[in-house]
Amino acid sequence: AALGSDGVRVTMESALTARDRVGVQDFVLLENFTSEAAFIENLRRRFRENLIYTYIGPVLVSVNPYRDLQIYSRQHMERYRGVSFYEVPPHLFAVADTAYRALRTERRDQAVMISGESGAGKTEATKRLLQFYAETCPAPERGGAVRDRLLQSNPVLEAFGNAKTLRNDNSSRFGKYMDVQFDFKGAPAGGHILSYLLEKSRVVHQNHGERNFHIFYQLLEGGEEETLRRLGLERNPQSYLYLVKGQCAKVSSINDKNDWKVVRKALTVIDFTEDEVEDLLSIVASVLHLGNIHFAADEESNAQVTTENQLKYLTRLLGVEGSTLREALTHRKIIAKGEELLSPLNLEQAAYARDALAKAVYSRTFTWLVAKINRSLASKDAESPSWRSTTVLGLLDIYGFEVFQNNSFEQFCINYCNEKLQQLFIELTLKSEQEEYEAEGIAWEPVQYFNNKIICDLVEEKFKGIISILDEECLRPGEATDLTFLEKLEDTVKHHPHFLTHKLADQRTRKSLGRGEFRLLHYAGEVTYNVTGFLDKNNDLLFRNLKEAMCCSENPIMSQCFDRSELSDKKRPETVATQFKMSLLQLVEILKSKEPAYVRCIKPNDAKQPGRFDEVLIRHQVKYLGLMENLRVRRAGFAYRRKYEAFLQRYKSLCPETWPIWAGRPQDGVAVLVRHLGYKPEEYKMGRTKIFIRFPKTLFATEDALEVRRQSLATKIQATWRGFHWRQKFLRVKRSAICIQSWWRGTLGRRKAAKRKWAAQAIRRLIRGFILRHAPRCPENAFFLDHVRTSFLLNLRRQLPRNILDTSWPTPPPALREASKLLQELCRKNMVWKYCRSISPEWKQQLQQKAVASEIFKGKKDNYPQSVPRLFISTRLGADEISPKVLQALGSEPIQYAVPVVKYDRKGYKPRSRQLLLTPSAVLIVEDAKVKQRIEYANLTGISVSSLSDSLFVLHVQREDNKQKGDVVLQSDHVIETLTKTALSADRVNNININQGSITFAGGPGRDGIIDFTTGSELLVTKAKNGHLAVVAPRLNSR
Ligand SMILES: Nc1ncnc2c1ncn2[C@@H]1O[C@H](COP(=O)(O)OP(=O)(O)OP(=O)(O)O)[C@@H](O)[C@H]1O
Ligand SMILES: [Mg+2]
Repeated sequence: AALGSDGVRVTMESALTARDRVGVQDFVLLENFTSEAAFIENLRRRFRENLIYTYIGPVLVSVNPYRDLQIYSRQHMERYRGVSFYEVPPHLFAVADTAYRALRTERRDQAVMISGESGAGKTEATKRLLQFYAETCPAPERGGAVRDRLLQSNPVLEAFGNAKTLRNDNSSRFGKYMDVQFDFKGAPAGGHILSYLLEKSRVVHQNHGERNFHIFYQLLEGGEEETLRRLGLERNPQSYLYLVKGQCAKVSSINDKNDWKVVRKALTVIDFTEDEVEDLLSIVASVLHLGNIHFAADEESNAQVTTENQLKYLTRLLGVEGSTLREALTHRKIIAKGEELLSPLNLEQAAYARDALAKAVYSRTFTWLVAKINRSLASKDAESPSWRSTTVLGLLDIYGFEVFQNNSFEQFCINYCNEKLQQLFIELTLKSEQEEYEAEGIAWEPVQYFNNKIICDLVEEKFKGIISILDEECLRPGEATDLTFLEKLEDTVKHHPHFLTHKLADQRTRKSLGRGEFRLLHYAGEVTYNVTGFLDKNNDLLFRNLKEAMCCSENPIMSQCFDRSELSDKKRPETVATQFKMSLLQLVEILKSKEPAYVRCIKPNDAKQPGRFDEVLIRHQVKYLGLMENLRVRRAGFAYRRKYEAFLQRYKSLCPETWPIWAGRPQDGVAVLVRHLGYKPEEYKMGRTKIFIRFPKTLFATEDALEVRRQSLATKIQATWRGFHWRQKFLRVKRSAICIQSWWRGTLGRRKAAKRKWAAQAIRRLIRGFILRHAPRCPENAFFLDHVRTSFLLNLRRQLPRNILDTSWPTPPPALREASKLLQELCRKNMVWKYCRSISPEWKQQLQQKAVASEIFKGKKDNYPQSVPRLFISTRLGADEISPKVLQALGSEPIQYAVPVVKYDRKGYKPRSRQLLLTPSAVLIVEDAKVKQRIEYANLTGISVSSLSDSLFVLHVQREDNKQKGDVVLQSDHVIETLTKTALSADRVNNININQGSITFAGGPGRDGIIDFTTGSELLVTKAKNGHLAVVAPRLNSR
């Protein structure tokens, strides 16, 4: 769908472009540029195609189409945004955009001057311009409020200041100059309106076919029932005398009801409170009521108010005393010799006073309205610095030149105003342009044009001008009338070529002039003015008591409009014409201070009809608007000129020699620049202070180049800026890092220093303590001593002996020696205790037996050490190795220990293999299945062994025991184990004798045997020659 609509748009635009090619878009391109006929023909051809816009260079000529052409849409606005003037078909928006861009890029105030006669389309153009700015400019920071207000001020002002005339159904009856303020970003920031002389006579009188100001009809048509009732109004305009004079309350082209809604809404947008709206409408209504005030003459032909109802409403709506108002309407206050006198008015005077009051009330309200709108439009931050950086774009929309059947003071002022603006146009385009060429020394063929200064002078010159004469007549004491004014005028300016009266005219023209008329040959045509009312209107008098009455008004708007200071001000106010003249002079100054853009509006026919091209009417306008001269100057001249400095400043970036700085004269710089850009000689001229460029396209090409260049410059600036920005950032970070670093280093250093200091102190203290360590405890050595102690204790904790056999123990300091000993003891006990707790009963028995063995043999018998590592075994013979007979013989007696032994005979010392059994009560010697000998423990008196490494031993038996055959000599391979167990079983631990050399034993009754022990290389048991048993025990290395 998007593609589709785009496609449509493309074809539409191309069609538009094709259509746009009708005739020439710029009169400058006209072949026969001196021919008025060709000019008008071009206008006509384009008008026929509904192409209402054509350029003369930068000036836009617009012909009122009198129909909605659909050329002001958003789409059209977009099309004209940011494009060069000449790239698109002529349009009002192109002018708007060009002015706006100039305002943005050069920051120069702009003024768009829209001129043309009444009904030519000035107001319409102004509205379109405003709309363009409101819709295309960036939104202001405070939102769209300003934009809305700018737009909405229009319908309100038009309702109060516009009216249907014969020339125009929506004719501006006041002049308007509006400043739109743009902020730095180009967004509309505020606005200000200057209004010029409202045609207030319309309030009380309208020519046939004309209307009063729109607001009256709008209120009556659109106002709600409730509102009308409050205001005491009827819905019928025919009921109001002020609305029936023109006899055309209804106009087909105007929808009062709708317009009322628009106005009502607009009022709220431009900050009107409900109360203010009410006050405002009260005034509008009171004007209508005033119109219906009637008078009747009493016997003394003094006027009396006859319409009580109206008076009542007036009293209420204006908030004034009824009686005061009544008196003011029918009397005149005269101050004579410091005394106030009330003189009654006759009917005519009373009607005059009434109308004067109506006009004053309405026109002052209009002035108040403009001020109120200005307050609403005022940029809200007028104090802020950005205010100073605003630029303004002025829009001038005044009442156009107009000629009626009967022309009065108002037309005189309006046409004078147009005359002034035409003068300004001539000044700024024709005159100054040509003067400039001359001043710049550019070869130039002067173009002749009509300068209307002569007419302006006729009107405004001091002493001799019409306004001066009028004022003089107004102020003159004595019977001054409109006719005396005319006479005076005839006297003073009779020779002026642009002035004519009945008296001064020749025979032929005299017919067309009444006696009370004068004629001015305006730039735009002849206008015959009727002098009736000139003096009055110029004086603009309001009776004092009427003013007084209004000053007391309780309607807030009225009380603002009528100020008491006015009453006490004795000085005569400036006349209307002079005031108007002054304000116009000011306006011209304002316009001159800005860069102008022109829209010249042309009215195609008098019938307000679309499609009708009245050639006579148009030729006339082309002539008086000076369009032909304009074109000729344009054709001969240069499209563009600029001071060298400014030109160089703008374009210097396009040439390497002038960029970034040109050191020489700007003129030379421009010459270099232009050569670099490849300008052809016919394209430009160098003046004294300015360069003149003939064709727009040359400049556009340069502008395009600048645009491209700007992009790259912008990128460069961006890059540089970014670089700078990041560098700054980096430097900042770096600085911070260094700062942190140094701080941290400082902190570390301080900490280290502190630590060192502390260490030094500690060391010093330690040394001092060390030196004094033997002294009694004192502060100086306390630390050291404590330190030694603690470190000993701490050290001790780590170096405690690991087991009971480990005897290592750190050396304690002297002070702890005792404690150390205690601790060591404690530790040892602890270990023993722990060890003891951990051993099994078997092992315990083993150790007990080993302990006994140690007790007996340690250090006494040579082979004892060999036995130490060998475990004692509970028994060396299993039950199966012992004969069952023996076991049987033992009965219930248990065998505690059994070991094979060798028994040596008592006589021959023959060795015999035996078993030795231990029971709880006896030692048994067993030979195979037979118990050979049983020795009760009680009979075992002792046991003897040698101290050598042999394994012989002797069991000593009680000698008295007859059954016994004597002591027994035995040998066991496990002698230590066997003896220990035997000694334990028999409880003979203390009865083991360890002998050196020999053992004597009882070898039977009355006979002793001797065993001799010697040491030798190996074990040898033999019977010696002396009858002793000789035992050679091997020498053990361990000994
Ligand atoms: N561009 C336009 N497109 C369509 N209609 C237009 C255009 N310009 C003017 N008109 C019609 O012409 C009428 C008169 O135009 P406008 O009110 O702008 O005249 P003016 O020059 O302001 O006259 P005055 O001097 O009396 O105020 C408008 O009401 C409108 O109907
Ligand atoms: Mg207008």
